[in-house]
Amino acid sequence: MVETSTPSWRFHHHRLDIKRWITTLFSSHKTLFTVLWIAAFVSVFAWQRNIVDGFLIFRWAAPGREMPKLRNVAYNLTDFGGVGDGVTLNTAAFERAVSAISKLGKRGGGQLNVPAGNWLTAPFNLTSHMTLFLDEDAVILGIDDEKYWPLMPPLPSYGKGRERPGARYGSLIHGQNLKDVVITGHNGTINGQGQAWWKKYRQRILNHTRGPLVQIMWSSDIVISNITLRDSPFWTLHPYDCKNVTIRNLTILAPISEAPNTDGIDPDSCEDMVIEDCYISVGDDGIAIKSGWDQYGIAYGRPSKNILIRNVVVRSMVSAGVSIGSEMSGGVSNVTVENLYVWDSRRAVRIKTSTGRGGYVRHITYKNLTFNNVRVGIVIKTDYNEHPDDDFDRKAFPVLEDISYTSVHGEGVRVPVRIHGSDEIPVRDVTFRDMSVGITYKKKHIFQCAFINGRVIGTVFPAPCENLDLYDEHERLVKQSTSQNVSDIDYDF
Ligand SMILES: *[C@@H]1O[C@H](CO)[C@@H](O)[C@H](O)[C@H]1NC(C)=O
Ligand SMILES: *[C@@H]1O[C@H](CO)[C@@H](O)[C@H](O)[C@H]1NC(C)=O
Ligand SMILES: *[C@@H]1O[C@H](CO)[C@@H](O)[C@H](O)[C@H]1NC(C)=O
Ligand SMILES: *[C@@H]1O[C@H](CO)[C@@H](O)[C@H](O)[C@H]1NC(C)=O
Ligand SMILES: *[C@@H]1O[C@H](CO)[C@@H](O)[C@H](O)[C@H]1NC(C)=O
Ligand SMILES: *[C@@H]1O[C@H](CO)[C@@H](O)[C@H](O)[C@H]1NC(C)=O
Ligand SMILES: *[C@@H]1O[C@H](CO)[C@@H](O)[C@H](O)[C@H]1NC(C)=O
Ligand SMILES: *[C@@H]1O[C@H](CO)[C@@H](O)[C@H](O)[C@H]1NC(C)=O
Ligand SMILES: *[C@@H]1O[C@H](CO)[C@@H](O)[C@H](O)[C@H]1NC(C)=O
Ligand SMILES: *[C@@H]1O[C@H](CO)[C@@H](O)[C@H](O)[C@H]1NC(C)=O
Repeated sequence: MVETSTPSWRFHHHRLDIKRWITTLFSSHKTLFTVLWIAAFVSVFAWQRNIVDGFLIFRWAAPGREMPKLRNVAYNLTDFGGVGDGVTLNTAAFERAVSAISKLGKRGGGQLNVPAGNWLTAPFNLTSHMTLFLDEDAVILGIDDEKYWPLMPPLPSYGKGRERPGARYGSLIHGQNLKDVVITGHNGTINGQGQAWWKKYRQRILNHTRGPLVQIMWSSDIVISNITLRDSPFWTLHPYDCKNVTIRNLTILAPISEAPNTDGIDPDSCEDMVIEDCYISVGDDGIAIKSGWDQYGIAYGRPSKNILIRNVVVRSMVSAGVSIGSEMSGGVSNVTVENLYVWDSRRAVRIKTSTGRGGYVRHITYKNLTFNNVRVGIVIKTDYNEHPDDDFDRKAFPVLEDISYTSVHGEGVRVPVRIHGSDEIPVRDVTFRDMSVGITYKKKHIFQCAFINGRVIGTVFPAPCENLDLYDEHERLVKQSTSQNVSDIDYDF
């Protein structure tokens, strides 16, 4: 086992060499002039080419990009016996690396560089004060034989595995009770090789709930950025009961159909979280904010709150771009979703819940949503009847209130709004302001409502349902609704 920090020393040495070389070079004015002249020539040349060629020139320089040193100590996976041939199992190498970093402790922690290559591994755990850095063309491959995946107890707020009772498979990259963890890189990839899992799930031969690709539990100060996550066996990125999580500039991919439950990001009982600049195209919800399931979630009692989602492009042909629920029994509040672009999807933004959930969804702000070729734009569904077991409380009605939609645009939308409250779960205090959505069918009843109250401010197209009060753009009441509980829901189109 190698536990030295040789690579960091090597980086240092390397940098000194470059510095000396540059000093020598530029000491001569003549050389400097020549270099500048060549640089100018190359720039003009590159500028003259079209964009594609221009990119090729920059790509040519890319492989030489040094991995930045983000911690005092940086290791190379190969120092721990890693072999990136796509066949050798690297679990022990990852474990040795993590163990070495865990010994560095609080003072700066350590960075593990994963160079270009295909690094097959079984699940492994991260440690605190750690940066996992994936170089360009570095791929961490999850082994797809479930025998290598350890079982873990069900999440306390779910009571059982999400799809099977009892224990569940852990995640490929796992962490719990950690602080200060970064997973980043030059767009390297974590690939869950989900195909075998999806097939076994459909054939019903798995006895336990599938594992997520990356799951961080009971942790704080987490940053996940600048990488690609793909083909997760189950949910892709699952922060559970975490605080202060930043997710930035990720690409998350899975087939858009027949990749069951491959949600992109599932913030679950998390607070103080930012998700931004991400591209997500997956086989279930792009993002789904959760907080536990029925009586287990109510007992655990940890809400998801203070979550900002912005500048996200998402495609979800099976479910929705951004969801809240359906598991939301610990409550969800203070969520802002802005500059969201949803394309070629079944639904754009959805809140889903049911009797038995309890909890609440409140103070939710959507701003600047764009839909392109989406079947149903805005959805609130209150009869998502999927329960962990039969012991859920039939009187645990979730509260849905203070939900606003501002600047909603797009085209090719079949049903722009379907908000389906009920007598027991009415949807209160909903606001629409500045909406104009191009529709594919010129039918009536495409702004569908039931048991909802709230308002429309200024111009909204298509014409809003009768359930809402109408205000002009100066917020002066024009017409008060007398039919908040009228139901006009048509699931046929
Ligand atoms: C890691 O080690 C491998 C093999 O020795 C080497 O090819 C690679 O350049 C190293 N990467 C870094 C960042 O040191
Ligand atoms: C990761 O740590 C958790 C908690 O200690 C443990 O249950 C799990 O088995 C560990 N996973 C692996 C792959 O070692
Ligand atoms: C996003 O990540 C890519 C790949 O690592 C990088 O080239 C790009 O600069 C990043 N963009 C931002 C805004 O950080
Ligand atoms: C990162 O890699 C993914 C998958 O190869 C690719 O789709 C994406 O465009 C890349 N992102 C950047 C910023 O280069
Ligand atoms: C599931 O359990 C059955 C019965 O115990 C067993 O025969 C089967 O091999 C198990 N399947 C998997 C994938 O572990
Ligand atoms: C949140 O986490 C980041 C990254 O570790 C850290 O820099 C920042 O100080 C943390 N913020 C708070 C309020 O703890
Ligand atoms: C992502 O990559 C960009 C470009 O390399 C870099 O400027 C930025 O700091 C990185 N962001 C994070 C959060 O790691
Ligand atoms: C709501 O969440 C935002 C982050 O999106 C945070 O800045 C703000 O302080 C939160 N508001 C309250 C009242 O907690
Ligand atoms: C609205 O969001 C789109 C991305 O969907 C973005 O291009 C545009 O700049 C945003 N508009 C404003 C006013 O922020
Ligand atoms: C609509 O239904 C709600 C909840 O069932 C009830 O509290 C309210 O009084 C009803 N409003 C009208 C105008 O009938």
